[in-house]
Amino acid sequence: MVNIFVSLVNPLVHAVMKLLGLKKQKVEIEEGTIMSFWVPAKTLDKPVLVLLHGFAANGSITWIFQTPALVAEYSVYVPDFLFFGDSFSESCKRSPEFQADCLARGLKLLGVESCVAVGFSYGGIVGFKLAELWPELVRHLVVSGSVVGVTRSLSNETLPRIGFESLSELLVPETVEGLKRLFYVVTQKKIWFPSWAFRHYLEVMFKNRKEKVELLEALVIDDEDFFVPNFSRQSIHFLVGEDDKIFKLAMIKDMILKLGDKATLHGIKNAGHLVHIERPFVYNSSLKKIMLPLKDMGHHDIGDS
Ligand SMILES: *[C@@H]1O[C@H](CO)[C@@H](O)[C@H](O)[C@H]1NC(C)=O
Ligand SMILES: *[C@@H]1O[C@H](CO)[C@@H](O)[C@H](O)[C@H]1NC(C)=O
Ligand SMILES: *[C@@H]1O[C@H](CO)[C@@H](O)[C@H](O)[C@H]1NC(C)=O
Ligand SMILES: *[C@@H]1O[C@H](CO)[C@@H](O)[C@H](O)[C@H]1NC(C)=O
Repeated sequence: MVNIFVSLVNPLVHAVMKLLGLKKQKVEIEEGTIMSFWVPAKTLDKPVLVLLHGFAANGSITWIFQTPALVAEYSVYVPDFLFFGDSFSESCKRSPEFQADCLARGLKLLGVESCVAVGFSYGGIVGFKLAELWPELVRHLVVSGSVVGVTRSLSNETLPRIGFESLSELLVPETVEGLKRLFYVVTQKKIWFPSWAFRHYLEVMFKNRKEKVELLEALVIDDEDFFVPNFSRQSIHFLVGEDDKIFKLAMIKDMILKLGDKATLHGIKNAGHLVHIERPFVYNSSLKKIMLPLKDMGHHDIGDS
């Protein structure tokens, strides 16, 4: 059977993105490093929103339920991180800092000076790095299923609890069974898909396996090296599924305490890690509600306070 993502889903997603006024653009960050973005086809006089994807998909697929709801009010940019989608690098760097650095340079080359960043899972972690290192670029950060950083003790505590031995076993599955296990960890509801759908997804979405495993190795940092940055120039918002099995609500509350009064918490009931896909209507309207006061602060330099 032909792969349904290659023959149907990807062309459909491309068509939808184009209908929404976006075009695909490859940006050369440095020699040997290309980052692919969906960007507004025309320059728009709207605040910029950057949507950062999670580990098991690319940008356009991750945000397929959100992009249509956001293009009317925002200039939406959807990057594919390095080693995802059409983005690639010949560099041997794998850290979230490198990912954030390339993203910041890509956005600058595209003319983005300040934005609201919305990140899911791995995208949230890179978003935190982006906000820490380029405070003038990221004025506001909204994250789901994400933390400021993944320490060894956090990973040691989390993986056995959800029944995995390593992050790569969880996030770079090799078999249909492995992908199903990932799917059931990230969702709260039992959504049924036929095995062939999982197999097709596995075939298209997990290219660059070696590099992805390295990205995950570089993600986990020693406890001594971890600190919660100041974020004194940004607002931070957690928009989370209350039944997230990976990053438990209690863990997020702890993290918010560590962030002081910088962060707000918005929980969505009956949703897991994959909250924006499981409850897209509630997620979208919560996201819009969170961003409303930020938007009112200014048109071009959104949230310049
Ligand atoms: C997502 O990434 C895959 C490769 O991993 C690519 O083939 C596909 O075209 C991408 N999908 C979209 C809609 O960009
Ligand atoms: C994490 O687990 C590894 C292997 O079990 C162990 O060697 C290490 O000391 C643990 N680290 C922390 C910070 O818990
Ligand atoms: C954190 O931000 C405050 C201002 O909000 C500043 O006074 C303080 O020095 C900063 N701390 C660090 C470690 O940068
Ligand atoms: C996203 O949310 C908006 C409401 O803010 C809604 O109109 C739209 O249909 C939602 N999209 C999906 C796919 O849920």
